[in-house]
Amino acid sequence: MSDTEHSHDHVDEEKRDFIYIAAGAVAAVGAGAIGWPLVSQMSMAADTKAAGSIEIDLSNIDEGSQVKSLWRGKPVFVRHRTPAEIAEAEAVDVATLPDPATDNERLMPNKEGKLDPRYLVMVGVCTHFGCVPIGEQGKVDALGEYGGWYCPCHGSHYDTAGRIRKGPAPENLVIPPYEYVSDTVIKVG
Ligand code: FES
Repeated sequence: MSDTEHSHDHVDEEKRDFIYIAAGAVAAVGAGAIGWPLVSQMSMAADTKAAGSIEIDLSNIDEGSQVKSLWRGKPVFVRHRTPAEIAEAEAVDVATLPDPATDNERLMPNKEGKLDPRYLVMVGVCTHFGCVPIGEQGKVDALGEYGGWYCPCHGSHYDTAGRIRKGPAPENLVIPPYEYVSDTVIKVG
């Protein structure tokens, strides 16, 4: 390949990356737009608002579905996982993972001090270049090859614990600081 051809390919690659990132930015705006109606499912007390925290009522999330909320300008996903999704997440040999973490390590204890694996709480930002992964049940190809989330920007696949399994993303989806403030309500932030 001549230098000219090589450089042309390089420019095309850059252009393509830009297009993907731009598409991701649109996806992020779209996710925000989807997230806003769900804000009605949250109560935002004045004190928590000041601290940049949000409260999310888990009882409103049906098994097998997820809600998106906005926290400090970022989407937060809460998925109410099915027993099959939990079993899949727990069965993985963590030593084989690019960013090793057990399913339990990605959960916070509830008011009784126990982990409730049904609810997975994550920042919905791909750890590659920051697109918003998709992961809605019932949408074609939305769950990726590992049944969790799929980032269409450059093809990162996350499993049902939000751990990176395939693609260029270097790390698992981030677990934000959160705690249970009642049996069914969590405070993020
Ligand atoms: S931003 Fe590149 S794979 Fe998600």
